[in-house]
Amino acid sequence: MENSNQAILDRILTLELVRVTESAAVAAARLRGQGDEKAADQVAVDAMRTELNRLPIDGKVVIGEGERDEAPMLYIGEEVGTKKGPKVDIALDPLEGTTICAKNLPNSLAVIALAEGGSLLYAPDVYMDKIAVGPGYPEGIVDLDKPAAENLAAMAKHKGCKVGDLTACILDRPRHAKIIEEVRAAGCAIRLIGDGDVAGVIHTTDPEETGIDIYIGIGGAPEGVLAAAALRCIGGQMQGRLILDTPEKVARAAKMGIEDPKRKYSMTEMAKGDVLFAATGVTDGNMLDGVKFSSSEIFTHTIVMRSSSKTVREIKARHQDIGKFG
Ligand code: FBP
Repeated sequence: MENSNQAILDRILTLELVRVTESAAVAAARLRGQGDEKAADQVAVDAMRTELNRLPIDGKVVIGEGERDEAPMLYIGEEVGTKKGPKVDIALDPLEGTTICAKNLPNSLAVIALAEGGSLLYAPDVYMDKIAVGPGYPEGIVDLDKPAAENLAAMAKHKGCKVGDLTACILDRPRHAKIIEEVRAAGCAIRLIGDGDVAGVIHTTDPEETGIDIYIGIGGAPEGVLAAAALRCIGGQMQGRLILDTPEKVARAAKMGIEDPKRKYSMTEMAKGDVLFAATGVTDGNMLDGVKFSSSEIFTHTIVMRSSSKTVREIKARHQDIGKFG
């Protein structure tokens, strides 16, 4: 594999991907705190699309800004790249955490994952029930269908600590009232986040730095696939189940090839094969700094990783040619 042209190209692409998320992050960062989610998202989409179309790939967006008729750019199914390169699936979110960016709160990101054609879950823009833990636990330590108390007790036993020493990250939404109650009753601490569950899942991979051991709850399915791609590279475990609770959603999913609407997907079923993942901080966060501007330079902080080598690179870039960001 490493000697094939495909693998060599993938290695180059790992670094090329950084330009794609950097560009989207810089564009969105200029609108931080302006209270305009849509405008921040649009500039990030435009910037990411321009950079993506420079990549030597024959790419298809499988997780994107929405379904064709409702998203004019980077819609699911859109073809991107120069077409002179490998066939790849792309999952992207040019601005993950639009509200966070609009309010200039922590952890909004520009995110992309890339894998060989046919390797990423082709999912509609619906909700997904998710559970994720970082590396170091035995396979199957947690399960989406087990009660929270059981999952947390298994984690604590493995770590040799008390459930009270663990922290679960959960999106602060009324739909999570029951799970929040269960987690609290088990004695586990909770970090409630306003938005941004791609970061929430990634944070489980470094509990010492982020203070988060497990991610639980319902968020976007696109964000679920992106998070699964990240964990494939950095290590950890994740399961997800699409919430297809109306005949219309079941039909939309069926059009994308999803036959069993109740299926529980493992991390590898959401992102298989060789996966590349990159994220650049838009606002400051637990793992990545946000974009910084000076009169003559722009600073960006990106994490980029690849599943086959498990290499995780952090790239702190100083851009003097600020004109290139438009
Ligand atoms: P956007 O970037 O599209 O605003 O998504 C932010 C987010 O918090 C995701 O991280 C999460 O998966 C999803 O929204 C949750 O959806 P909802 O806000 O409808 O609960």
